[in-house]
Amino acid sequence: MSQNLSSEPKRVFSGVQPTGQLHLGNYLGAIKKFVDLQHQHQCLFCVVDLHAITVPQERAMLAANSREIAAAFLAAGIDPDKAIVFVQSSVPAHAELAWILNCTARMGWLERMTQFKDKAGKDKERASVGLFAYPVLQAADILAYRATHVPVGEDQKQHLELSRDIAERFNRDYEAPGFFPSPEPLIQGPGARIMSLKNGSVKMSKSDPSDLSRINMNDSAEQITRKIKKARTDPDGIPSEVEGLEGRDGAKNLIGIYAALDEISVQDVLTEFAGQGWGQFKPALAELAVAKLSPVSEEFTRLMNDTRALDKVLQDGAERAHAISEPIMAEVRKYIGFWKG
Ligand code: TYM
Repeated sequence: MSQNLSSEPKRVFSGVQPTGQLHLGNYLGAIKKFVDLQHQHQCLFCVVDLHAITVPQERAMLAANSREIAAAFLAAGIDPDKAIVFVQSSVPAHAELAWILNCTARMGWLERMTQFKDKAGKDKERASVGLFAYPVLQAADILAYRATHVPVGEDQKQHLELSRDIAERFNRDYEAPGFFPSPEPLIQGPGARIMSLKNGSVKMSKSDPSDLSRINMNDSAEQITRKIKKARTDPDGIPSEVEGLEGRDGAKNLIGIYAALDEISVQDVLTEFAGQGWGQFKPALAELAVAKLSPVSEEFTRLMNDTRALDKVLQDGAERAHAISEPIMAEVRKYIGFWKG
């Protein structure tokens, strides 16, 4: 059994849930970063439908929603010949390892997860057991491939810390030093935390009832422009230094979106627009957003019209993912001492 991964190359894993529309936060916080990483490392990008069913889903929509996420990955520039693109439920290791790790994780660890508290709301007793155990499945996703790096938005930080705790605990409990690596989150840059356009103190999210709060990946140029025009800012103009954005959530968010879309630093945006008002900045941001997002949404529409080709990518991805995870699972079974070990 292999003991030490330090000499092994990096492996990147990340997932996106097929639960309705993708928005600019998903794109800038995660998918856009996937595109860059595929050129440097072995990457697995997964549509996490097992996570989606932790809350009720419509049977008629689930497969279509999974295809949509896969199409968005490809439209954004992920090359399925390079990166492995697949659906979680098509590779058995995820569910198997999740069960095993449910027996490694502690109740107390999961009780601290803020996302469960947010999602379960007031009526915690009625939430599914799956929603509570959700972060353990996330750890299984990553560890089933012994992935070393995980590009995500900032909202996933706590889940990633839990994945590290679970990996370490498994290695200790089953006397398997170094078997699972401690996966490192890749959470950088202004795209890691995109906020609502209506309220700069809450994150942009698909569950926000106001459509004006987010830019959806399939919004038209007119919709994008209108939403940016209506975005909340403040009466002050654009400062010349980053400190000038302190305590100005709405302003900070729009400047951050510009920086992430144009792949420049926040300071560079400020240097370019210092002293200008929002009446000048917002049209420039809208123009940039349309220029960057329109090609992605056009390609997305084209791909969604060819589900046969998409399914082929996903089938091929499932086979490649299975080929990596199965030998790892065989070692896991041995460490535990299962009959089929
Ligand atoms: P999900 O589907 O909610 O979101 C997908 C990705 O988008 C990022 N994101 C954001 N980034 C910046 N600003 C925002 N406003 C914003 N909103 C969402 C998320 O951080 C995420 O990277 N639990 C995960 C899916 C998952 C996963 C995994 C991720 C399952 N298994 C294994 C990594 C590794 C989730 O619900 O993401």
